Amino acid sequence: LEQSTEGPDTAHQGEGGVRRRDFLNVAAVSFAGVGAVAAIAPLVTQFGPPADVLALASTEVDISKIQPGQAIKTIWRKQPVFVRNLTPQEIQAANATPTSSLRDPQSLAERTKPGKQNWLITLGVCTHLGCVPLGTGEGENRGAFGGYFCPCHGSHYDTAGRIRQGPAPLNLVVPEYEFTSPTVVTIG
Ligand code: FES
Repeated sequence: LEQSTEGPDTAHQGEGGVRRRDFLNVAAVSFAGVGAVAAIAPLVTQFGPPADVLALASTEVDISKIQPGQAIKTIWRKQPVFVRNLTPQEIQAANATPTSSLRDPQSLAERTKPGKQNWLITLGVCTHLGCVPLGTGEGENRGAFGGYFCPCHGSHYDTAGRIRQGPAPLNLVVPEYEFTSPTVVTIG
């Protein structure tokens, strides 16, 4: 009878001992994790502006010196942005393409501001895997459709920044922007 009453108590103490050790181990790991985060956090916040400042940041671009047929690359919220002044021929080529034939159907008018179809503003980020397409530099490869060419896996965008050939699924993204003066575009 004595054995039967001692047995469960002993077993219970044993289990309790294991549970306490497990708890102490988990607690030690947790404190180590919290300590590591606390040590790294100040270092992380040293890189770039705080997220709330970055989210509000806009970029002003002087477009007065971008001639028809030229494009420039600027930076907005750490991303490349292309600002392009289309020639009348490039506008005509973009408008001559039936939108129903496009992988990501959008007209040039939908991708530009009313009365300013010559100004095409897009993110310079390929919609395949995020490389920066070519086409802003002097003599750079603009691809088979005269817009932008992504050298990573061969995506071709047309003069409206629309995907025409290659693996990218979507057109180059048009960010929010406004003409804040006749010669200044504010992106963001
Ligand atoms: Fe541009 Fe792959 S990242 S084609």
